[in-house]
Amino acid sequence: APVSLKQAFKDDFYVGAALNGRQVSGNDAKALNLIQEQFNTISPENLLKWESVHPQPDVYNFEPADNYVTLGEQEDMFIVGHTLVWHNQTPKWVFEDEQGKPVSKEVLLKRMEDHINTVAGRYKGKIDSWDVVNEALNDDGTLRQSKWLQIIGEEYLQKAFEFARQADPEAELYYNDYNLWKPEKRAGAVRLVRSLQEKGIKVDGVGMQGHYGLESPSLEDIEASIKAFSDLGVKVSFSEVDIDVLPNPSGRAGADIDATFDFDEKYNVYTTGLPDSVQQQLTARYAELFDLFKKHSDKIDRVTFWGVTDNDSWLNNWPIKGRTSYPMLFDREYQPKPAYEAVLKAA
Ligand code: XIL
Repeated sequence: APVSLKQAFKDDFYVGAALNGRQVSGNDAKALNLIQEQFNTISPENLLKWESVHPQPDVYNFEPADNYVTLGEQEDMFIVGHTLVWHNQTPKWVFEDEQGKPVSKEVLLKRMEDHINTVAGRYKGKIDSWDVVNEALNDDGTLRQSKWLQIIGEEYLQKAFEFARQADPEAELYYNDYNLWKPEKRAGAVRLVRSLQEKGIKVDGVGMQGHYGLESPSLEDIEASIKAFSDLGVKVSFSEVDIDVLPNPSGRAGADIDATFDFDEKYNVYTTGLPDSVQQQLTARYAELFDLFKKHSDKIDRVTFWGVTDNDSWLNNWPIKGRTSYPMLFDREYQPKPAYEAVLKAA
């Protein structure tokens, strides 16, 4: 019987987790143990985002990212970079001049190029795969009206991939987004990748984030996207998997609450802990998801969880701050949950 996720799926796809600053600096020894034992790929939860690694025009903060890459190299892991061009967690100064006015297209392209050269260049030959552009699409499949699009125009997508290719010719270059199971957004991503390919830009993969709920999305919708992206001739990865067991007011993921248990609407928490009924739903949901991944393991390159344990998941703070969520395979005591066993069984 397999003793770890990476061993269980070694002939199928990489299995990984997103790491935070405490974990990469060795300040969370128990999490680090799990990471070394369970995973063969890692992603940086925040530390390579523009605001973390390049907070001010001439200030780069490479220490956390260096620690992250060193850890991946020591463990011989597939190292992911996340992310180069995004509308979130990018400082305001990037888009403004000294008077606070929007910069010109030329200036913004130059800033993008410098940033990508500096960051992807530093980890050339070390970071194996970059999320070059993150979340460029609206749910209806149109391009998001980000500052990148507003100032540069559609060309920003192509430029981001060109700059990344130039900074590290060997790295895999990905387009990454959430809700890619939605038919209209799926079609938008297909158009986006095709239009880059038609311009002679090689896109190596599409990352489906995979922030899912207990019931939505359907396996059929996820499967249709795996096939659609694979048909473009690119790799498919699940880049940020978690399953939200709490309700989500925005409807993006999440679940109905089990009304037989005490649920605090204000703090968005089951006051007596996770009910067994919900634990079972979570287990079944992970099992069906990994059955699907296994079925398409010829198309799927990597499955990465967005966190390690329930304790470090961003879903304790999103979409409501300070809630208690249970989205991961390991609990707050770093112990495997029934969902972990179910995932191993799917292998
Ligand atoms: C999240 C992190 O997990 C949080 O710690 C941070 O406060 C906000 O960003 N899509 C992405 C990830 O591509 O970068 C986001 O990560 C989650 C949604």
